[in-house]
Order: sequence, then C-alpha cells, then structure tokens
Amino acid sequence: MAAKFVRETLPKLAASQVAVSRGLLAAGLLFGLWLIGKCFYNCFLHPLRKVPGPFLAKFTSKWLEYKDHSGVRTATLHEMHKKYGPVVRIAPNEVLFSNPAVIKKIYGFNSSYMKTAFYSGFEESGRPVLFTLRDKTIHRDRRKLMAHAFTHSTISAAEPLVAEQVRNLIGRVARQNGAAMNVYAWFRSLTLDIVSSLFIGKAIGALDQDKPHEYMNNIDAYFQLAGLKWQLPWLLPLTWWIPLPSWQHFQGAQHRVYDYGRAAFNEYIERYGRDSGRNDPLKKIIHGDKDLPPLSDEQICCEVGSVLVAGTDTTATVLTYTTWELAVNSDIQSQLREELKTAKVNPGPSGVPRYSEIESLPLLDGIVLEGLRLHGPAVASLPRQVPAGGDMIDAYFIPGETTVSMQAYTVHRNENIFPDADTFKPERWADGGTQQMREASLQWSKGTRMCPGLHLATMELKIVLASLVLGWTINLGERMEEDTMDMVDHFVLMPKGNFCDLVFEPLKS
Ligand code: HEM
Repeated sequence: MAAKFVRETLPKLAASQVAVSRGLLAAGLLFGLWLIGKCFYNCFLHPLRKVPGPFLAKFTSKWLEYKDHSGVRTATLHEMHKKYGPVVRIAPNEVLFSNPAVIKKIYGFNSSYMKTAFYSGFEESGRPVLFTLRDKTIHRDRRKLMAHAFTHSTISAAEPLVAEQVRNLIGRVARQNGAAMNVYAWFRSLTLDIVSSLFIGKAIGALDQDKPHEYMNNIDAYFQLAGLKWQLPWLLPLTWWIPLPSWQHFQGAQHRVYDYGRAAFNEYIERYGRDSGRNDPLKKIIHGDKDLPPLSDEQICCEVGSVLVAGTDTTATVLTYTTWELAVNSDIQSQLREELKTAKVNPGPSGVPRYSEIESLPLLDGIVLEGLRLHGPAVASLPRQVPAGGDMIDAYFIPGETTVSMQAYTVHRNENIFPDADTFKPERWADGGTQQMREASLQWSKGTRMCPGLHLATMELKIVLASLVLGWTINLGERMEEDTMDMVDHFVLMPKGNFCDLVFEPLKS
C-alpha cells in the first residue's frame, strides 16, 4: 500500500506542485512586467510626464493617501508648491495648481469641469445631495430648488433663531466665571445648534450638554468614512460583517447622520405642517422653486442631514481660529471693541447685538475675512475632472479626465497678492481689499459649486465675535502652547491640540 503510494501518488503530487509553482512564477513575472511597463509609461510616455512633482507621485497616489490619513496633506502639498512651483503632479493622474489666474478655468461659473467621484464618499447608500452631485444639469436644478433657503433675506429673517443660540453660548461663557474654556468644543456645539434650529426646526441641544453631543461623534466619523470609501474602497465591503461593536458603530455614522435628518424632518412636518409660520430655511426647501418639481421628502431628509454636517465644523473652526487670533493680537481686539463702541452698538440685556448694527463695520468685516483667509476651514484641494479632450492649464496640456485642483491654503498665502501673508492683518481688507485679493479668495470656492451657506456663516461669525468682544476681554488659556493651533486637516481644518482654551474676563461696564 505504502509502496504503491510512493510509486504512483507522490510523483503526481510533485508534478502538480511544480505546475502550481510555475503558474505562480508566470503570474508573478507577468505582474512584474506589467508593473515595469506601467512605471515606464508613467515616467517617460505619460502626457503628464513633463509636469514637475515628487518622484513617487509618477507611480502611485498612496504616498498622498498616507499623508491624508496623517492629517498633513495640505501642509505637505504647500511644501510641494514651494519646491516645484505653481504646477505639481501629485499622483499619476492628478495635478495641483496654485496660480490664481487658473481659478476661473477650474472653478468659475462657466467652467465645464465636474466634481470627481471622490465626492460620492460623502453619500449615504448612494443617495446624492447638493454637495455630492456631479452631473452639471442635475446639480443646477437641485441648487435652484434649494437656493431660496440660503439667500441673504432668508437668513436675515432667521436672525432671531441664530441670536437665541448665541445667547445660550454667552450664558455658558458668563457661567465660566473667568475659568478657561475650550472654545473649539463650544463653538462646534453652537454651530450645530444653529444649523439644526434653522434646517430641522429645533436645536439639537448640544449647548445644553456638558460633554460633546453624540451627533458630534457621528460628524467626526462621517468625514473619516468618506476618506476610507475613497482611498480604500474595498475595505468596508470586505469588513462590514466583523462583529466588533466599535467597528459596527463607526460604519453606521453616515447612516445615523442622515437618519437624524429623516426623523427631525418628519417631526417638523407633524409639528408645523408643510407651510409653517416659522421664518426658517427648511420651509423654503420644502417649497422649492416655482419652475421645478419639488424635492421628494426623502431627498429633503438627505439634504438636511448633509447641511447639518456642512454647516457645523466649517463655521466652528474659523470661529475658533479667529477668536484665538483676537486673543493673540490684543491690539486688534481693543480696536474692534472701540469700533463697536463708536458705532454705538447696543447688545442690550441679551448681550447679543442686532446683525444690522454690525454687518457693515469695516474692522469686524476685515477680521472675519482675514480669519477665513488664514484659517478657512475648507483647506483641502477641491478635486475637479478635466473634460474629455483635455485642456491647456497654466501652460501644460492636461488630458481629459485628469483630476485637477487648487488648495485655498496655498493660494491665500501668495505673497504677491497678500504681502506678509502669514500675518493676521485685518486692515488689508479695508474697502473690501483689492480686486486681485477678491479674485484669489477661495474660502467659499467659486462658481456654481460655491458655498451657499456663506451668508449664514458670515452672520454667525460677526454676531458671535461682536458679542464676545463687547462683554469680555479674551486671553489665551494656560494649556495653550506654541503648536496647539497648528493645522491638522481631514478635508476640513482642525487645531492640532484638538482644543483651544481661552479665558473670558468680564469687562467692567
Ligand atoms: C465658514 C463656514 C463655511 C465655509 C468656509 C464653507 C466652505 C465651503 C466650500 C469651500 C465649499 C465648496 C466645497 C467643494 O467644492 O468641495 C462649500 C460647499 C457647500 N457648503 Fe459651505 N462652508 C461654510 C459653511 C456652510 C454652512 C453654514 C452651510 C449650510 C448651512 C454650508 C453648506 C454648504 C453646501 C450645501 C455646499 C455644497 C454646495 C454645492 O456643491 O452646490 N456651508 N462650502
């Protein structure tokens, strides 16, 4: 029996092993050849071969994804511009620009460049929203349907809802009695309560809690999930079943964000009906536009879920950095207080001034614009796809479907346009700044994809800054170190320390 096994089976086994090894070797060789061919093509034949950039970028985007996960993408790309100039190849099929002259081509109103597939990472179960829609015509109609919710007059009418939440914040500051306060956390709670009050009919109540609201964790995970879906698209489909409660919870974050929008919308309709007497933007979204069929309830639910995310961290971050700048630059803080007093701005017993009293004050305006220039929360490069047929951009031919982008962080630090660019100088915006400065301002992006929330965000920034400066002297807390406010970016900017401690000392009236 054993002899038969040795005589007949072993040679067969050995032969099949040899065949498998040869197969593997051949596959390995083929893969190696393909890789060498691809590297050779990317390096010497690719239409982007002459675009300067780091060596690794010719072959892979993985180095950039690693930087992204580490929260240093924007800073790294800024250094790349310093090293290679205004046009940098940052991945085999991706080019980054910093010359303000090309903003119109990539982002302008008449640009035919679409958002890239990157944005679908922000969708829940493939349901597109205004922010993620790629098709130009579908996006145009959706934008028209929602535009009424964001106009200056709609937002002005909703001012009492904003002021109510700022009053809650002011109450928190007063109760702090001069003890240091982590404004990064409190401003996130404030902006979440404001957008929820305006877009789902009631404040989530983050300011009423002493610890971060559960919804905030969902927002954090929402951005991380979007990054993972884009860079490691195989990870979630392969691991969704792993029965680790924390992993399951993490994966459900986007669903919970949109589910919250769903539940709140239904509650709103139950409470107020479809024609509520409230002066809120949600009413405008429900009514839509007379020329187009209205959004379905499901679409509205997704949109409000998305707006809650879009309007929270963005405004909170720039509010944090701008208030911190006032604490660092006490002279500018005093000048702002003087400006408010000279204009006889009267916050009354609520401590919150009316927007009409402060909206056009030049120094306050300059402080907000300078905060947005230096610390605009949307720091990352916003990717767009070059239309079929390709295009000449900044003297390079860029083939169709290449991803191109610009990052506000670098454009806003162009010394020719913003001299002494790293310094917080609100006075540079006197009389609205130069035309060059306005054209190079990317904090809200440009064109048809420009931020519709800018009126609301500007109102929030001005009302909060004025309220704080009128009531308190703002100083740095003890925990603040030189690098606490250094930039970490995960699509939106955040302080490296993940906190910003400020001390509010009451002013003697
Ligand atoms: C200081 C605060 C804010 C800044 C700096 C900011 C910045 C931006 C930027 C740069 C974009 C373009 C993103 C891209 O192309 O990928 C954008 C889009 C958007 N923002 Fe804001 N945002 C702010 C606050 C808000 C607020 C308060 C809301 C709503 C309440 C909002 C809602 C949106 C929406 C819906 C879009 C997508 C627009 C579209 O694609 O048509 N944002 N924002």
